[in-house]
Amino acid sequence: MRIGIVSVFLILLTIFLSLQALAKSSSSSSDFQCKAWLVQSIPTDMPHLPLVPGVLSTGDVLKWMAGNASVSLDVMAQYWQLVSHPEDSRSGDYGYSQQQMHKFGADQGFDVYKALESAADRNVGIRLLSHSGVYPDYTEEPSNLASGRPNVRNVTLLLSDWWGSGIVHAKVWISDVQDIYIGSANNDWKSLTQVKEVGIYLVGCPRVAEMVGVYFNNLWKLASLNASAHTRTVWDRQWQINRTVPCWSHFLDVNLRSPLPDYVEVPHVAGYPVLVDPYMFVMPIHTPGYNEVLVSQPHYNYLSFAPPELSFGKNQADEQAWVDTIKSVTAGQTVRINTMDWLGQSQYISQTVVYSKQATVKVLVARWAHFINSTDPYLKSLLYSNVLCSSSKYNKCSGKIEIKYYEVPGYNLTGPAVSNGTKTGNSYPGYTRVNHGKYAVSDVRAHIGTSNLIWDYFYTTAGVSFGTYNPAIVSQLQKIFDADWNSPYAVPVVPLEDGLANSSW
Ligand SMILES: *[C@@H]1O[C@H](CO)[C@@H](O)[C@H](O)[C@H]1NC(C)=O
Ligand SMILES: *[C@@H]1O[C@H](CO)[C@@H](O)[C@H](O)[C@H]1NC(C)=O
Ligand SMILES: *[C@@H]1O[C@H](CO)[C@@H](O)[C@H](O)[C@H]1NC(C)=O
Ligand SMILES: *[C@@H]1O[C@H](CO)[C@@H](O)[C@H](O)[C@H]1NC(C)=O
Ligand SMILES: *[C@@H]1O[C@H](CO)[C@@H](O)[C@H](O)[C@H]1NC(C)=O
Ligand SMILES: *[C@@H]1O[C@H](CO)[C@@H](O)[C@H](O)[C@H]1NC(C)=O
Ligand SMILES: *[C@@H]1O[C@H](CO)[C@@H](O)[C@H](O)[C@H]1NC(C)=O
Repeated sequence: MRIGIVSVFLILLTIFLSLQALAKSSSSSSDFQCKAWLVQSIPTDMPHLPLVPGVLSTGDVLKWMAGNASVSLDVMAQYWQLVSHPEDSRSGDYGYSQQQMHKFGADQGFDVYKALESAADRNVGIRLLSHSGVYPDYTEEPSNLASGRPNVRNVTLLLSDWWGSGIVHAKVWISDVQDIYIGSANNDWKSLTQVKEVGIYLVGCPRVAEMVGVYFNNLWKLASLNASAHTRTVWDRQWQINRTVPCWSHFLDVNLRSPLPDYVEVPHVAGYPVLVDPYMFVMPIHTPGYNEVLVSQPHYNYLSFAPPELSFGKNQADEQAWVDTIKSVTAGQTVRINTMDWLGQSQYISQTVVYSKQATVKVLVARWAHFINSTDPYLKSLLYSNVLCSSSKYNKCSGKIEIKYYEVPGYNLTGPAVSNGTKTGNSYPGYTRVNHGKYAVSDVRAHIGTSNLIWDYFYTTAGVSFGTYNPAIVSQLQKIFDADWNSPYAVPVVPLEDGLANSSW
């Protein structure tokens, strides 16, 4: 009898423990509570831009991520200028008064920096990975955070040592292996209140965080390897250039073993590897900021990475994810593309999408103080495909391309207030007043990235993107685009005259 009671107790205990283990493993591996918010930075003094409800501000999100981190915080940044320096004559902030800096929103960057400092002081394990930084601060902020704190590690990664050119351009935060920011915002006070940015904030999503973490670890590992011992020069047939690549690159006929784990194996190819069935994870993502009826069903989601030598598993490369997002548009619908820069191949859009799908393609490109002038002919020739199409009565031209420049007011009045002791007449600090977001959204799929649409960048620049078929995220991202597109800040690009276009075609 006593033995009976003991064994019943043991059986119950076993059942209880295994149920508990099951509950634990399913909650940590399947992200049932994964939530997402779209995140924006909107420059000050843009009164005619309608706000999209339910979108969070980048400054708040970065502050919260640092504030909530209890175990680990991984930050990948191109450079650091969270704290403004109006007193430093080398800075683009130089010469503006404290009152002006306050009006520009510089306090938000300072608050994010303080939140990081406080996480560092709470003994959170912090890893800061950056490109070498930019004038005049370079690595000052990450170095100061790391200084005297064994729990904070900082590394510089020069991608040019590995790919001949390129930088760490991804802007990614991962907190406690469950909360993630992916987007266009740099670790810069200006990216919070003077530059237009778009990103996504995922909360309670350990599965996604682990995947982004593998990419982070790959970059971290590269930073400690001797690049010259692990790179080769190859002839790139697609771009017709000699290219420096890691020795495990798919560009090499005989590629060597990668020192990184889980490297995606693809056969030798002329250009980029395109995966037939890139990895998609099916899961519900709740969108508390956007209460439409569309939520909480599972949908396909993906991550994409650049350059491809740093991708892993069956994750697609950033370029493929962009192109597939553009191609995902269904017949007669609209694909919206927002990018700071646009150069290079446009074949995907004009041929694949406009003509075969009779879709409308809307492209929003930034015009600002550091605008790349050669962009203009590219865009005009892209627009010219509308003319080409309607020039033949045999073409069905119900699709079209529309392009607008986005001009944040004051974009041509940026730079230090004082230079060489004289007033410059500038109204805003340097490198401000620009639309810096990088995303594309069709009627069914949203892609939020960190890379500009300069196609060659996808080969040498570190980038991370999140994409989804979640209709709430798709719909809200469309609303963000439409608010910009329909605002007075978006100015149509004027197509070339017929004759002019012919002569430059
Ligand atoms: C933690 O994050 C939530 C939102 O995800 C935010 O409301 C809260 O303020 C954050 N906590 C801290 C200490 O920053
Ligand atoms: C990291 O921080 C330390 C301590 O402040 C500094 O000496 C070092 O130069 C920094 N290294 C990099 C790569 O930024
Ligand atoms: C890096 O590798 C190159 C080429 O193998 C070698 O000549 C050089 O000494 C190495 N540098 C270091 C610091 O190990
Ligand atoms: C590329 O490199 C090869 C081998 O080093 C060299 O012979 C060739 O001239 C280079 N081509 C260009 C266009 O630089
Ligand atoms: C672009 O052209 C404008 C006007 O011609 C000129 O002022 C500017 O310096 C050029 N920008 C670049 C980056 O070359
Ligand atoms: C700045 O741009 C605006 C709008 O395009 C224009 O009206 C103004 O003349 C420009 N100012 C300067 C100083 O170039
Ligand atoms: C500032 O003055 C120095 C020395 O007089 C001169 O070399 C430099 O070009 C000036 N810079 C600007 C931006 O005018």
